[in-house]
Amino acid sequence: MNMKKLLAILLIIAMTFAFAACGNGNGSQEEDQGASDEPMVYKVAMEPTFPPFDTIDVDTQELAGFDVDLMNAIAEDQGFELEWINMGFDGLIPALQAGNIDIIASGMNASEERRQKVDFSTTYYDSGLVIAIKEGNTAIKGIDDLTPDMKVGAQIGTTGADLVNELYDEGKIGEAKIYNGLDVAVMDLQNGTIDALINDLPVTKAYMEAKPGTIEIVGDVLNAESYGFAVQKGNTELLEKINAGMQNIIDNGTFDEIYNKWFE
Ligand code: ARG
Repeated sequence: MNMKKLLAILLIIAMTFAFAACGNGNGSQEEDQGASDEPMVYKVAMEPTFPPFDTIDVDTQELAGFDVDLMNAIAEDQGFELEWINMGFDGLIPALQAGNIDIIASGMNASEERRQKVDFSTTYYDSGLVIAIKEGNTAIKGIDDLTPDMKVGAQIGTTGADLVNELYDEGKIGEAKIYNGLDVAVMDLQNGTIDALINDLPVTKAYMEAKPGTIEIVGDVLNAESYGFAVQKGNTELLEKINAGMQNIIDNGTFDEIYNKWFE
């Protein structure tokens, strides 16, 4: 066999190995992952100063909470895996829209405004906003008692922040103090830096129970919220998995077990 033929054969063999190493070439995560027998791995993000939904386990320093256990149970039911990510609440929807994460599991109200940007699962918890004050503060009995000399806090990117900013724009409060972490907002309420905090009822209760005698809830529940898990708009495949998994864990009693773990 002459040298030319040998080189041609070697070139063909080399090219064959090169194409095989590149996979299907379109580099898409789901197609690449789907090409193997390995389970899909989805990136799920939450902001962890929102107990009992989204918090950090003091012993393990792992992300924990009702949202975590619920989403993990759904993943197990549907045969996919999760990579949990700690992220600022205001960064969650932009990260989902950019494709940097696949799921938001963060006590997020499935509001009409947000439904324009992302798709929500079946909702799983009904909630609402309340006003909290430092225990013993007799000046504030409800939202009508807020005055233009007062500072009112909320967490950035939340429905609570929307309401506080609205009150400020209407001149009803003197300052809208917006915090990255709800834990710092609660600390500032406890030390008198802010006069009131607008936040979700079950989470404010959790902070009250963690430090009895420091803050209290006044007035009526200010709105109606329903939390859902969010996926990128149009990702019906993942949304259907989450909804099917949610229904299955409701039907088999796992949802109630997780609820009782965090709320009873
Ligand atoms: N439910 C409110 C909202 O949807 C607050 C959610 C805050 N969640 C959190 N993990 N910090 O805006």
